[in-house]
Parts: sequence; structure tokens; C-alpha cells
Amino acid sequence: MAMPAGTPVIEARDLTRVYRRPRTSLTRPGEAVHALKGVSLSVARGERYGIVGESGSGKSTLLRLLCGLDRPTSGSIRFAGQEIVGRRDLRFLRNDLQIVFQDPMSSLDPRMRVRDIVAEPLVAQRLPVGTRVAELLDEVGLPAAAAERYPHQFSGGQRQRIAIARALAPAPKVLVADEAVSALDVSVRGQILNLLADLIDAHGLTLVFVSHDLSVVRHVCESVAVMSEGEIVESGAVDEVWAEPKHPYTRTLLRAVPTLEGLL
Ligand SMILES: Nc1ncnc2c1ncn2[C@@H]1O[C@H](COP(=O)(O)OP(=O)(O)O)[C@@H](O)[C@H]1O
Ligand SMILES: [Mg+2]
Repeated sequence: MAMPAGTPVIEARDLTRVYRRPRTSLTRPGEAVHALKGVSLSVARGERYGIVGESGSGKSTLLRLLCGLDRPTSGSIRFAGQEIVGRRDLRFLRNDLQIVFQDPMSSLDPRMRVRDIVAEPLVAQRLPVGTRVAELLDEVGLPAAAAERYPHQFSGGQRQRIAIARALAPAPKVLVADEAVSALDVSVRGQILNLLADLIDAHGLTLVFVSHDLSVVRHVCESVAVMSEGEIVESGAVDEVWAEPKHPYTRTLLRAVPTLEGLL
């Protein structure tokens, strides 16, 4: 979708999301969970934007809203300048934004061959498949023969390569990743992160990358927002946040999770 220069790709304002836990009493409603308490952010075109925070801080909730997979309780989200909250036809979003999830075993259909998995978004959008599957497999470092096989025949890292190939298939402008390397062995994590970084560069993509691990975010992102209990408590250039964390919570995160240090 065409966009005036300088328009943020994603602009979120004052997002809240309240979940209701199932009721445990006949007379009282289920307890409210305030998963997001007024989150605003802006992602520029071509930016690699990280969202970091411990488990339960609201990262996945925020990401689902940004992708139009769920609706905020209140607030506004603009994608390429267009409001998506309350809008029914989100086809423009589906075309331009693709998602890579944490666990490729549950996000890849085990009964489908890799060829059909990778081609699926093309078929869904009635785009020509042609030689795209072979090209995409090559781009993510898998042999052409992988196309005829099934997800369980691959390692975790290879499955995430398949998920990345599928995400790139419709030539999106924005790639969104939720804990995309968190389920992988530490030794494979660096390879998949480097692959992601290379592909983002090669295709000039905008990246929104969620992780509980700031060292992982630092490896692929230039900016970061730190989330705690449904709020962004600190944001800025990732190197600055890393070197001089201002919020006590960020310092705790830094002490807790430097899993990539010394590995890359
Ligand atoms: N569908 C849901 N129903 C009720 N509570 C939810 C639901 N999804 C998430 N939550 C709650 O919202 C909070 C944020 O969760 P989530 O966005 O998954 O955090 P993160 O991805 O950072 O681990 C947590 O307290 C979680 O238990
Ligand atoms: Mg999550």
C-alpha cells in the first residue's frame, strides 16, 4: 500500500486490553485482567523494533492487536496511516504484514507438505506460486528437496526456516515475530537470528520483534520498548537502553537474561 514518506508503518495510541477470566461464582462476573494499560508506540518504515518484557507483561497481547488478530478494549492502531480498530476488511493488513510464531511445530500444519505450507499465503491471496517455493526455500537456506517433506522431518531450527519462508512468500512489508527463537536450542538461535537480520536487510522489511530476552532483541533490533505489567516502562535505541537502562525493571531484565552473550 502506498504511504507518504515519514508516515509511521504502525502507530498505536493508548491501547488497553482487558480480559475476563471465566467466572467462578454465579453472582459475580469473572475477574478482570488488565493485560494492556495504555500502550502507545510508533514504528517507522524500515525500523527494526523490539518489544521486551518478562512472561505475562503483555507482549503477545500487544502483538495480536497490532496484527489485527484481536481488538483492543480501547485505543487506536494505524497501519500505513489507516485505522484498523473496528474495521472489518483487513485484507490490506493481511497482504502487507506476516507473522512468525514461537513454536513452528504448532504453527505448521503437520499434514501438509512444506511446498503447500510455504505456498499457502500465496494461494490464499490468489498470487501465482510458480517457482516461488524453490526460491524461498533457497533464501532461508533449505534444499529444494525440502518441498516434498513434512514438518516433523525437520529440526526445530529448520522448521523455523520453513515458517520464515512462508512469512516471506507474499512479499510483505512488515514482518512480526513473537518469541521466534525462544523455543530453539541456544546453538541454533544465533543462526536463525542472523538469517532473519539478513532477510530483513535484503527485502527492506520493517520488523516488530517480541522476546523476553533483551540480548536477543539487541541482536536484531535498533529500537526497543520495555514492557512490564501491561505498560511500556522504557523505550529508545536498543544500544542505549542496553548500556544505560533507566528503569529498575530493565536492569532486572538485563541481569536475568543475557543468553546470547559470548555466543555470537
Ligand atoms: N485469552 C486470555 N484470557 C485471559 N487472560 C489472558 C488471555 N491472554 C493473555 N492473558 C493474560 O494477559 C496477561 C498478558 O499476557 P501475554 O500478552 O500473553 O503476555 P506475554 O506475551 O508478555 O507473556 C497475562 O496476565 C495473561 O495471563
Ligand atoms: Mg507471549
